[in-house]
Amino acid sequence: MTSPSTTLSLVDTDPAELAVDAIVIGVHSQTGEPDATSGRAATLLLASGAESIAAAFDGKLTETLALLGATGGPGEVIKLATLGTVTAPVVAAVGLGPEPTGAAPAPEVLRRAAGAAVRALAGASRVALALPLPDDTDAPAALRAVAEGALLGGYRFAGYKTRPQPARREPVAEVLVAVPDAGDAVATAEVARARAVTDAVRRTRDWVNTAPNELRPPAFADSVAAAAREAGLEVEVLDETALREGGYGGIVAVGQGSEAPPRLVRISYTPAGGGAGKRVALVGKGITFDTGGISIKPAQGMWEMKSDMAGAAAVAAAMLAVAALKPSVPVTAYLPMAENMPSGTSYRPGDVITMFDGKRVEVLNTDAEGRMILADAIARACADGCDYLFETSTLTGGQVVALGKKVAGVMGTPELCDRVKVAGDAVGEPAWPMPLPDDVRKGMDSDVADISQVNAGMDRAGHMLQGGVFLREFVTADVSWAHIDIAGPSYHSGEPTGYWTKGGTGVPVRTLLHLIEDVAANG
Ligand code: BES
Ligand code: MN
Ligand code: ZN
Repeated sequence: MTSPSTTLSLVDTDPAELAVDAIVIGVHSQTGEPDATSGRAATLLLASGAESIAAAFDGKLTETLALLGATGGPGEVIKLATLGTVTAPVVAAVGLGPEPTGAAPAPEVLRRAAGAAVRALAGASRVALALPLPDDTDAPAALRAVAEGALLGGYRFAGYKTRPQPARREPVAEVLVAVPDAGDAVATAEVARARAVTDAVRRTRDWVNTAPNELRPPAFADSVAAAAREAGLEVEVLDETALREGGYGGIVAVGQGSEAPPRLVRISYTPAGGGAGKRVALVGKGITFDTGGISIKPAQGMWEMKSDMAGAAAVAAAMLAVAALKPSVPVTAYLPMAENMPSGTSYRPGDVITMFDGKRVEVLNTDAEGRMILADAIARACADGCDYLFETSTLTGGQVVALGKKVAGVMGTPELCDRVKVAGDAVGEPAWPMPLPDDVRKGMDSDVADISQVNAGMDRAGHMLQGGVFLREFVTADVSWAHIDIAGPSYHSGEPTGYWTKGGTGVPVRTLLHLIEDVAANG
């Protein structure tokens, strides 16, 4: 099921002499004064890395690109036939926006540019990137970003078409990145890291993009378990009987409406020597399809609810990268999986459910199913013992209303929320801390049980916060936790942009990996 992957290697050959189908250079936008003789403003500036290409064009490259409409704006890719001036038959100029003063472009600018260029060059089999890479301490981060962007922009879901698509341009098969020293050990390590990280992102996208009839909980659990075992991780799968016997009331309740029974997958990574420091737990929402259940959703757009397992997919894939990157902290992942369906056996509004930790929850809306399965998984993670717990889920439409389709919402222990924000900024997966107000908790007081699953008056105000407030009840006091609501950023329904393709984005795999490495380094 995994989509074919692009290969990536480093070269230190002069880009003008590289035998590739296309060579990618960077261009900055510029707002200059009009030229005295031509009256035209210089709008373009070639980025570093493009020097030898520019020389081969006898100083006419910028002018020609401008005539072709290049502005240097982010996301723009202008292709130019080289007709023998350089070895590659095509030069592609990718926009980098204004040149940052005194510094190389930010890693996210490079990541998006590499992604956009590799996407635009689909159909070419071999492409080289000659983008501006700093030669100082920022060099590894810049190279990492370029490699990640290229490998993610080259992603395409295999899909289900029964006939070959003659008009379809296949993703670039091989990417070369021009660097000053291709044998440099730091650079080589960055490429290996980018490979592990982007493999995880691509795997997440594949799971999210898979049709929901092909990825019901037992199939999803099997697929995750097989991949994790192959990576050398320890895997335990609880089936519906084990879940019922284990008292996982929330997972059982949501799963009971479907003919495809629920699962809880637990994946553990133990570093060599056991790891003395902090223990990390990851939890991800694995609703393989969310109809809303008895509180059924409207038909319009419901198909996107195949992505309601994006949190579980991201966590599972992050574990595969952990197995490859081998950080010095123990990490255990908990993936509750269920299909939220309306049927004669569904749970219903009014039900009172006894959860894994013994708390009783009054169900008011079966469409708030994510928190039911996550509460059990969180409680189990706390019972097993952990110091930091990162949970991620497509939990609320309220996240999209509040923060949009690009920025995740973060709730939990304030210091850990700040750390998630810093990690997100570092990797280009923005996340914003949100509060857990007392009055929101008050609104969830139940007449009959310990807590209502949503606001008792079904008031949708502070909708995203209700999710965080509910989950907090299941985290034990000794655990620092962060809930990352990815309802918006986990799935991209618009046109491809930067290194994002249509469908699953793989958010927040790179944030989770950054956080794990942060905990390994700083406790
Ligand atoms: N999976 C949805 C949330 C969602 C919405 C994810 C849009 C991605 C895009 C979740 O299970 C849900 O249905 N939430 C309800 C909560 C409500 C019933 C309290 C919602 O957002 O309306
Ligand atoms: Mn729902
Ligand atoms: Zn859901």
